[in-house]
Amino acid sequence: MTKWSNLFLFVIIASTITGLAACVKQGKSESDFSKHPPIIVGYAQLGSESAWRNANSDSVIQAAKKAKVRLIFKNAEGDQQQQIKILHEFIIQHVDVIAFPPIIVSGWDSILKEAKNAGIPVIISDRMVKIKDPTLYVSTIGSNFKEEGERTAKWLVNNTKKSNKKINILELEGLTGSAPAVDRKKGFAQIISKHSNMKIIESVHGDFIRAKGKNLVSAALKKYGRKINVIYAHNDEMALGAMAAIEEYGLKPGKDILILSIDGQKEALQAIKTGKLNVSVECTPLLGPDIIKAAINLKSGKTIPRKMTPVEKIFTKENVAKELPYRKY
Ligand code: AHR
Repeated sequence: MTKWSNLFLFVIIASTITGLAACVKQGKSESDFSKHPPIIVGYAQLGSESAWRNANSDSVIQAAKKAKVRLIFKNAEGDQQQQIKILHEFIIQHVDVIAFPPIIVSGWDSILKEAKNAGIPVIISDRMVKIKDPTLYVSTIGSNFKEEGERTAKWLVNNTKKSNKKINILELEGLTGSAPAVDRKKGFAQIISKHSNMKIIESVHGDFIRAKGKNLVSAALKKYGRKINVIYAHNDEMALGAMAAIEEYGLKPGKDILILSIDGQKEALQAIKTGKLNVSVECTPLLGPDIIKAAINLKSGKTIPRKMTPVEKIFTKENVAKELPYRKY
């Protein structure tokens, strides 16, 4: 090797080592999303009705911070008109990407048309929309709610099949017209309808709220008493409310009345451990990293998948102890 080629080799090795050291120091990796064109994302959260929702807000805020994305985070606190108003403000501010979980499925055509006309791509997160023109949003990121209902019903079928006893079910529905309430009802009913010993004796609306779940179950217990064998709650918050009502009534939740639920939040997993809740099908609120990554890719001119669905678990007394130490919400 000549003197010059030796020097060239030295420079290459030295710069590689320096580069690697810088990466380690800053904790960067190949999948690091902090290097991207400047971007502003507007997130219009629908409310604060549950621990799930708060974990979802936190997930988006933390993911944006980590990726050094400027996030404008607004909360509509359970009011669709307010959510539309926030989206309108994002359009006027001309953010780069809009993401939002629609509180209910209908009523979005005109505001989404406004976003499209302004050239702002929209990501629908968590809950889905029903609109005439599907080109009004670029992608959906969230769980398959119908499948969650089906998985809950299948757990009931599999865990009661030894006896062919009559099973009366009280259903605690989520917010009327919202995608999870509509689809979780549909998925559950489809499976249950194949089993003649199972009957939904009443469906009541608890809006995904714990206190409402408790009041509705107290009232149902006064009406039906021990005739209720199973409570199917569309989310953990209402299931936790149901448990409190059953205890107040003098019965044992999880034993005298089986309780089935959806979400997999920490408090519900603890209730499974103590035997008060029988099953919780996971619905993850931790959508922030995927939403922010999708927004960055859109801003960088990349195409993103039309539909992204997380892989989710089902929690029962068999596996809950393993999961609990890692549950943050
Ligand atoms: O849209 C997801 C649902 O909304 C969650 O199951 C529930 O807990 C939340 O309020």
